Amino acid sequence: PESANGYSFEECSATAEWLLSQIQIRPLVGIVCGSGLGRLAEMLKDQRTFNYSDIPNFPQSTVHGHAGRLVFGTLKGKPCVCMQGRFHLYEGYSIQKVTLPIRIFKLLGVSTVILTNAAGGLNLDYKVGDIMIIKDHINMPGFAGNNPLNGPNDERFGIRFPSMSDAYDKELLQLAQGVGAELGYGNFLREGVYCVLGGPSFETIAECRMMTKLGADAVGMSTVHEVIVARHCGMRVLALSLITNQAVMNYDSQEKANHEEVLETGQLRAEQLERLVTTMVTRIQDH
Ligand code: 6GU
Repeated sequence: PESANGYSFEECSATAEWLLSQIQIRPLVGIVCGSGLGRLAEMLKDQRTFNYSDIPNFPQSTVHGHAGRLVFGTLKGKPCVCMQGRFHLYEGYSIQKVTLPIRIFKLLGVSTVILTNAAGGLNLDYKVGDIMIIKDHINMPGFAGNNPLNGPNDERFGIRFPSMSDAYDKELLQLAQGVGAELGYGNFLREGVYCVLGGPSFETIAECRMMTKLGADAVGMSTVHEVIVARHCGMRVLALSLITNQAVMNYDSQEKANHEEVLETGQLRAEQLERLVTTMVTRIQDH
C-alpha cells in the first residue's frame, strides 16, 4: 500500500494498532540489531515474536545475517521492542520503506531508540572490534537528494525542517560512556562520526581517503536514515557501530572488505555489545 512518498500516517497507525492488539507489553525502548548482532534480541524475557512477513505493511528482510523478526519483551523489567534484522537501501527498498519500522516504534509508544550496526573503520587509530558511539553523521545519500523525509510532510510525525545538529542524544552518549567504563570497555570504546553510503559495493580506496578528509571515523550502509526519521518524530537516539574491519586506505594493501569478515567480528564482540546495550536500557530514564 506504499504510495509515491511512502506510507501515510494512517497506514503506519494501522500497523501499530495491529501489533498493539496482539501484545500486552507497551515498549518504551526500541532497538535495531545490525549485521551479526541479532542475538541482542534473544536477551529479551517473555518474548513475543513476529516474522516481518506476518506484519501488515512490513517489508521483508533479504540479507544473510539478518533474521527478519520483530521481538517484544523486557530487559530487566523494561519493556522493549527489537528489530532483529533491518532494511537497507541496497536491497532495493525505497528509503521510506527502510525507515517505516522507526515510525511504527513511535506509534507503539517508544521514546528512546538504540541503533546498532557493523561498520568499517576509517580512523587509523581504530581497531577491529572497537565499539564506536556515534556522535554525528555524514549523510552521503542525503547530499544526492535521497532523504527519508522527502515528499509531503505530515505534521503528526514532525516538522518540515527538523534540525540534525542535536541528532545524537548527549545524555545517552554520556550514559553509554559511563556504562562502558564501568564494564571495563574503556580501551575499545570510541566516539566518532559515521558516514553512510548506499552500498552494496564496498568503498574504493579513493572514496575511503575522501571520507577520512571529510571527518568520518567509520563507514557503513545503514542507521542514518533511521536516525533522521526517529529525530523527526521526537524520539531520543543512541547509535553504536561495531568496527568489524578496517576500510582499505592504501594502494599497497592486499586486504579487501568482505561480508564474512563483518559477520565474524560481529560474533567476536557481540557479547560485549549486548551487555553494553542491555545495561544501558535498564538505566535509561524515560522522558
Ligand atoms: Cl568497510 N564499508 C561499508 N560501507 N559498510 C561496512 C563496512 C565497510 N564494514 C562493515 N560494514
